[in-house]
Amino acid sequence: MNTAAVQSPPIVLPPLPYEQNALEPVISANTLSFHYGKHHKTYVETLNKLIVGTQFADLPLEKIIAAADGDAQHAAIFNNAAQVWNHTFYWHSLKAKGGGEPPAELKKLLDASFGSVDKFKKEFSAAALGQFGSGWAWLVQEGDKLTILKTGNAQTPAAKGPKPLLTIDVWEHAYYLDYQNRRVDYVNALIDKLLNWDFATENMGR
Ligand SMILES: [Fe+2]
Repeated sequence: MNTAAVQSPPIVLPPLPYEQNALEPVISANTLSFHYGKHHKTYVETLNKLIVGTQFADLPLEKIIAAADGDAQHAAIFNNAAQVWNHTFYWHSLKAKGGGEPPAELKKLLDASFGSVDKFKKEFSAAALGQFGSGWAWLVQEGDKLTILKTGNAQTPAAKGPKPLLTIDVWEHAYYLDYQNRRVDYVNALIDKLLNWDFATENMGR
């Protein structure tokens, strides 16, 4: 008997794209060990428990998010699925020695959409700081225009767009061990030193 056909494929915790100390000193290995190794991992484990025996059991992650989005009966499935996706996207939005000057193609769009890269950085920071409570700030693409979004809790543009290019996690668990209540210091250091322009460019036009 082919058991693979009747067992739901578990949602897998993707590997971090770098070592846990790679983002120091902006984000410590200690923060990443909890954020990735506990928070992200727990969202994956909880989601796998919640979807057993449901219509979501055999769906890939993006389809779970799309199907559960806005469905109050499946809020826990949506929240955990979206948090799995958001965190994977966040890890890739960061890299050691990131920030600096964006590649030409992306810079052109940032200039056209925000006036300059510096103005984009200020608006992105303001969105991350202005998200009341837990959530996410996003650089997103709608056609030829880039805009900034903020979302609360697990909300995500993953399923219904607009197309996300980069994100910043502003849940306290993302920065509290390193910055305590100083979200502003975390956000600005991340924008200046860790943003992964290459990842944003890869996501453009997809
Ligand atoms: Fe997080």
